[in-house]
Amino acid sequence: MLNAVIGAGQGSSLMGSYAISLSEAVLRQRTREAERTAKLEAQLANKIKSEFIANMSHELRTPLNSVLGFSKLLTEHEHRKLSDDDIVEYARLVQDAATHLLTVINNILDISKLHSGSFMLDPSDVQVADALDDCLANFGKSISDHGLNLVCNIASNLPIIQGDEQKLRQTFTNLVGNAIKFTPPGGTVAIEAANAPNSDIVVTIRDTGVGMSEEEIRVALAPFGQADASRTRWREGSGLGLPIAKALVDLHGGTIEIRSTKGQGTEVTVRLPTNALDLSSY
Ligand SMILES: Nc1ncnc2c1ncn2[C@@H]1O[C@H](COP(=O)(O)OP(=O)(O)OP(=O)(O)O)[C@@H](O)[C@H]1O
Ligand SMILES: [Mg+2]
Repeated sequence: MLNAVIGAGQGSSLMGSYAISLSEAVLRQRTREAERTAKLEAQLANKIKSEFIANMSHELRTPLNSVLGFSKLLTEHEHRKLSDDDIVEYARLVQDAATHLLTVINNILDISKLHSGSFMLDPSDVQVADALDDCLANFGKSISDHGLNLVCNIASNLPIIQGDEQKLRQTFTNLVGNAIKFTPPGGTVAIEAANAPNSDIVVTIRDTGVGMSEEEIRVALAPFGQADASRTRWREGSGLGLPIAKALVDLHGGTIEIRSTKGQGTEVTVRLPTNALDLSSY
């Protein structure tokens, strides 16, 4: 009986020390795993940062080289005997490149702030119909220049939503700009805005353009991602418009959905909740 009691005591102390060493081993293993995950995350962050910087310097350098090249030609006017038409053309190319450079710099600042969480919205009551009308008015000329048909169907009873008007306009501009840019002449760009049953506003931008595969959509949503990487001319853009639009819609508590068929066209659906931003929290 005495033996049995001593045995039980020894057993429980053995169990105790076994439990301690087991929990220490689990702790060590978890620490090792956490260290390995942190290291992998740091390596990935570094890789993304390097790629971002490489892309960024490419995007800045290309138009800057145009500015330098064409302005140099202009300074050599005396010796080259440039015609008036040449001078106007070179000055226009310098202006084009500089304007593009400014857009890229603004987009890079936007995407960096959006990704670091330091992007500030300026909320107010927004008429989505007005934001869409403004955006379409700006694109009027380029739609006809591209030989495209525009179909517009914006519901007259859209509710006022709380959001950042300028950023929503930027979002629509990026998406409509893509629909125009990637649709060959003779195609159609259709913009619709309607009320959804759950009181969201649904804006659809549809085109009959070049379309994207599933994989290309994934690439397109990443900063600097362009579905057709062979299109290297900076005039085609820098691959920031779509990720910025997505991040801005996310910030408004909405969603962007892209459906596309290669060679047939693309449909981008933006859903915005009417209480997109709670003004009381600003
Ligand atoms: N409506 C569309 N139809 C076909 N391809 C599209 C469409 N919208 C986007 N894409 C593809 O997704 C890529 C990324 O789009 P995004 O708007 O981010 O960049 P971009 O238009 O090339 O340049 P940026 O908008 O910065 O001027 C485009 O380069 C294009 O390959
Ligand atoms: Mg774009």
